[in-house]
Amino acid sequence: MADVLDLMGPDEMADPGLSAARLLAGDRCRRYEGFEPPFYILSRYDDIADTLLDPSTFVSGHGQGPNFVPPVGVVSDPPQHTFCRRLVQDDFKPAAIAKLKVRLEEIADELLDEVAGQDVWDLHDHLSFPLPVTIICEIFGIPTDDIWQFKLWSDASVAALSAQDPTVYFEELDRMRAYILDLLHQKKPDLDDNSLLARIARARQDDIDITDEEAVGLVLQLFVAGNETTTSLITNFMWRFLDHGLWPDFCAGKIDVDKAINESLRFDPPLLGLFRTTAEDVEIAGTAVPEGTKILTHYAAANRDPTMWDRPNIFDVARPIKKVMSFGLGIHFCLGAELAKLETKVTLAALARRAPNLKLVNDGERIGPFLFWGRKKLPVRWQ
Ligand code: HEM
Repeated sequence: MADVLDLMGPDEMADPGLSAARLLAGDRCRRYEGFEPPFYILSRYDDIADTLLDPSTFVSGHGQGPNFVPPVGVVSDPPQHTFCRRLVQDDFKPAAIAKLKVRLEEIADELLDEVAGQDVWDLHDHLSFPLPVTIICEIFGIPTDDIWQFKLWSDASVAALSAQDPTVYFEELDRMRAYILDLLHQKKPDLDDNSLLARIARARQDDIDITDEEAVGLVLQLFVAGNETTTSLITNFMWRFLDHGLWPDFCAGKIDVDKAINESLRFDPPLLGLFRTTAEDVEIAGTAVPEGTKILTHYAAANRDPTMWDRPNIFDVARPIKKVMSFGLGIHFCLGAELAKLETKVTLAALARRAPNLKLVNDGERIGPFLFWGRKKLPVRWQ
């Protein structure tokens, strides 16, 4: 089993647990030829932790995907990364996020109202996709009138991250950049506007105004990073719970929500892994890896490392909470983890209250990019 690994093949696309099992049965540092340029994959929890905690040897500035791209925004290394992170981090700290709870509850209720009269509806299209997009727009101060347009742009952006040929998405991404740049230019002169977007527009580093490219890049990263991923967390959670017959117990308050969300993140990480690039020649677990090589830190495999978890291939919602790899680690640890968890909790609470008899119609459809794990369709019925 250890010898076949095809991250983009139909079996592993349908069940990333299979990729995890194959990786964990093979070499700790494994060369992967199924992509151009080839890369190495790390799968053991400790190896990945060591890598992510050494950001000067394993850098982010060549992009988080398998392709080499120039640094921008938080996908960069210190000092650029430190500057960008400081600029936005206060808006994502627990105290700031807690203030969004009431608004999130309203959004969840409004979205459920819209499908209240439909026998069958799509959990992705009508709930888990629009909720995170709406709140991130509100955090930024971006109008929410055309969230399907944002969806198209977000999709293009995540598809470009893991595509063999990202250029096919460039036209769409240029339109997104132009839209954001226009908003930044509108907001910059209005000193009374204290929205996150306005503050990014007015940011200065070493007494120099942030460049348009840098500001747009940062906004896009914040915008895209939190959408598809949170959508997938909510959809994956509901998919497993409905499929495993756990939903009635959840609605009856018999399942601890924090443990359940942690287990969903462990078992079904919305991002299966991301990349670093070696800044020098290194030896990893006995394998010599040259400078300038892409390394995939496979979170989904780390989350099933048997040295960390008992019976790792069982979805066990009573499992004690332990730090999963799904939000990364170290200086790039997910800025939006608190927000994602709150969005998920609020959505689950609204569903438990209003849809305790919810049923799965079928398994829907997987999202396309191989690094991401979620469903772009998940049809459900109320009864
Ligand atoms: C379940 C939902 C989410 C998952 C699974 C997730 C996953 C991740 C992961 C794995 C990283 C590490 C990237 C790396 O090491 O290169 C990351 C970073 C990041 N995430 Fe999230 N994320 C989620 C939600 C969000 C949300 C809601 C936001 C809100 C804006 C967000 C914003 C960011 C940002 C800005 C970074 C880059 C931080 C840095 O490089 O310093 N994420 N996320």
